[in-house]
Amino acid sequence: MAGFVAIVLAAGKGTRMKSALPKVLHEVGGKPMVNHVLESAKASGAIRNILVIGFGKEKVREVIGNEAEYAVQEEQLGTGHAVLTAQELLADYTGTVMVLCGDTPLLEDRVLAKLLQEHQSAGASATVLTAMMPDPTGYGRVIRDGKGRVRKIVEQKDASPEELLVREINTGIYCFESKALFASLNGITCDNAQGEYYLTDVIGMLVGKEEKVWAVTADDHQQTMGVNSRAQMAEAESILRKRKLARLMDDGVTIMDPNSTFIDGEVSIAPDVVIYPFTWLEGKTSIGTGSVIGPNVRLTDTVVGENVTMHFTYGHECQVGDSVTVGPYVHLRPGTVLAERVKIGNFVEVKNTNVGIGSKIPHLSYVGDTDMGAGVNIGSGTITVNYDGTHKHRTIIEDNAFIGCNSNLVAPVTVGQGAYIAAGSTITKDVPSDALGVARSRQNNIADWTKKYKG
Ligand code: UD1
Ligand code: CA
Repeated sequence: MAGFVAIVLAAGKGTRMKSALPKVLHEVGGKPMVNHVLESAKASGAIRNILVIGFGKEKVREVIGNEAEYAVQEEQLGTGHAVLTAQELLADYTGTVMVLCGDTPLLEDRVLAKLLQEHQSAGASATVLTAMMPDPTGYGRVIRDGKGRVRKIVEQKDASPEELLVREINTGIYCFESKALFASLNGITCDNAQGEYYLTDVIGMLVGKEEKVWAVTADDHQQTMGVNSRAQMAEAESILRKRKLARLMDDGVTIMDPNSTFIDGEVSIAPDVVIYPFTWLEGKTSIGTGSVIGPNVRLTDTVVGENVTMHFTYGHECQVGDSVTVGPYVHLRPGTVLAERVKIGNFVEVKNTNVGIGSKIPHLSYVGDTDMGAGVNIGSGTITVNYDGTHKHRTIIEDNAFIGCNSNLVAPVTVGQGAYIAAGSTITKDVPSDALGVARSRQNNIADWTKKYKG
């Protein structure tokens, strides 16, 4: 199978989204809609992706970067005009062009591969991907002759009452032979109900020139669903989410309640992980085998090792080692790296901190900008005082140190190996290894004070 160049149309505003953001940049399944399309095109053999941009073009370039080449359509004069803007980039190209829309995030590469395969093996000049719709309203209709051959595509607004009865619609996805496409495109007019240059007119023109026009019907009309509104976006999101969960379950992951589990497309989860309800796994998160995640966990771009137990936790841009336990009510902020067998629990916040093997921060603490060794015990209520109002400073807690409850460690400060900090201390000076740091006033008991007080 020869490769092809993809032209993805994405210049429209997406008026019905009622958004300042170009429609194709709205995210479903954890990434912009248009990324789904570009990735499917690549996976089905696209050698180049050309994105036609217009509305919000700077923003689109910024987000998509070098995932595509760009053709700019300054004014949105119609889909045919949009494809023409890519002509210059294809001046020397003579192979197959696949035209796609940027707002069909449910499209899978297998459908595109089938379209390409049928187009090339039929030796057609154009092949339309069609779908049978329960309700075809709004779509262009595929008009065939008595022998089943495609004759033309008619837009809803230009269709006759009989044509409107046709349930086979144009999905807006096609393969063309480049030369035939541009030869016809340069001849289209905007003489129609919408005053636009329709790409769909090319089909009728090729038929008129007795060129071979072919059609492939998608087996599942969901694949080509275009997203035009927030309601359709929610529908697409839920379909993508279901697909992802189905793949994970096929691969050996237990999902207790798919209806309350939200996992982005790029997340990877090993077999024999159990996901409890109300869990969000986002971005480039990964989970190692044997881990039990949730209920109520949200992780973004976080790497979780094997046999981790985590519940009621929000973690972002962190690394969690094997056999760690986290939760309940924990916030792991960016730059947190937990080594094996660490325990973090009960109302603890950790930020930009390395926690060594087997160390424990079990209750009510804030630990930030800290390098902590192995076997450390952090008493309840410990705070690293890392910010002086201008600068952040680091705290170093060496192996096997024991920090008593309700201590403040005023950074920069080092607690040496095996040192103890007395409960309630505010430590402002380094504590040598094996020393006891006490930084609070001594207790004084006044005998019979209560009797005197109450008279
Ligand atoms: C188009 C098809 C219709 C098909 C439907 C499938 C035409 C004339 N009609 O209709 O047969 O059933 O898609 O969804 O092609 N775009 C541009 N520049 C423009 C106009 C559109 O880049 O000047 C982009 C839009 O951003 C969008 C795509 O092309 O991604 C489709 O445009 P849209 O206006 O939604 O076409 P439809 O009217 O839905
Ligand atoms: Ca559309």
